[in-house]
Amino acid sequence: MNINLAQETDLDAIQKVVETAFSDEENKIISKFAFDLLTETASPSIQSWVAEVDHQIIGYVSFSPIFLKSETDLSGYILSPLAVSPEHQKQGVGSSLINNGIDRLTKAGAGVLLVYGDPDYYRRFGFDEEIGRAFVPPYPPEYPFGWMGVMLNGTAIPHSPIRFACVAALSKSQLWGDTVQNETLRNHPEHKYV
Ligand SMILES: CC(C)(COP(=O)(O)OP(=O)(O)OC[C@H]1O[C@@H](n2cnc3c(N)ncnc32)[C@H](O)[C@@H]1OP(=O)(O)O)[C@@H](O)C(=O)NCCC(=O)NCCS
Repeated sequence: MNINLAQETDLDAIQKVVETAFSDEENKIISKFAFDLLTETASPSIQSWVAEVDHQIIGYVSFSPIFLKSETDLSGYILSPLAVSPEHQKQGVGSSLINNGIDRLTKAGAGVLLVYGDPDYYRRFGFDEEIGRAFVPPYPPEYPFGWMGVMLNGTAIPHSPIRFACVAALSKSQLWGDTVQNETLRNHPEHKYV
């Protein structure tokens, strides 16, 4: 398996992965989200990666920069979305895409990586809710227990919560609300306690 930077020409294959990985309810919105991320120009740039086997794309992840509303030189990213085609799941593809991204962002000097997803999955990679609470997204996450982060390069967790803005593709309330990416969180046992 190879992990390569995604090109715009990979869009159709990426959207196919997204459409098969996510539920009917979610996949159109995530597919549009993937399109937006691959076509938006941001500084620092949005990084999208694909996992390929025999020149076929079987997994996809994007990392988009956040823009902190405070006097700090901390650089941060959000991991979203992540998808692996169903026939290739549970073979380490998702883990490889996440670990590759963490390595690359660490080498590039990033201070934090955030994610909104299933804590049971992302805790494996060191993501933690305490770090999520230190970074306040533009829209309140519908399921706060799924909002997590991992500090990189030995960066300290900010003493008080810092607000931030996202790239345009992610600045949409529906991506943080109850409609999308959140089927797993809606059905998660921790949801009952929130
Ligand atoms: C989540 C997803 C990306 C994982 O990809 P993957 O390639 O199967 O992941 P890996 O092979 O690296 O890891 C698989 C392990 O994670 C577990 N896992 C997968 N999804 C999980 C979840 N939502 N919660 C807890 N554990 C999960 C698997 O049971 C498996 O456990 P095991 O190692 O004990 O067998 C993939 O299942 C997927 O595309 N799902 C649909 C889209 C989605 O939910 N994206 C993430 C949004 S939060």
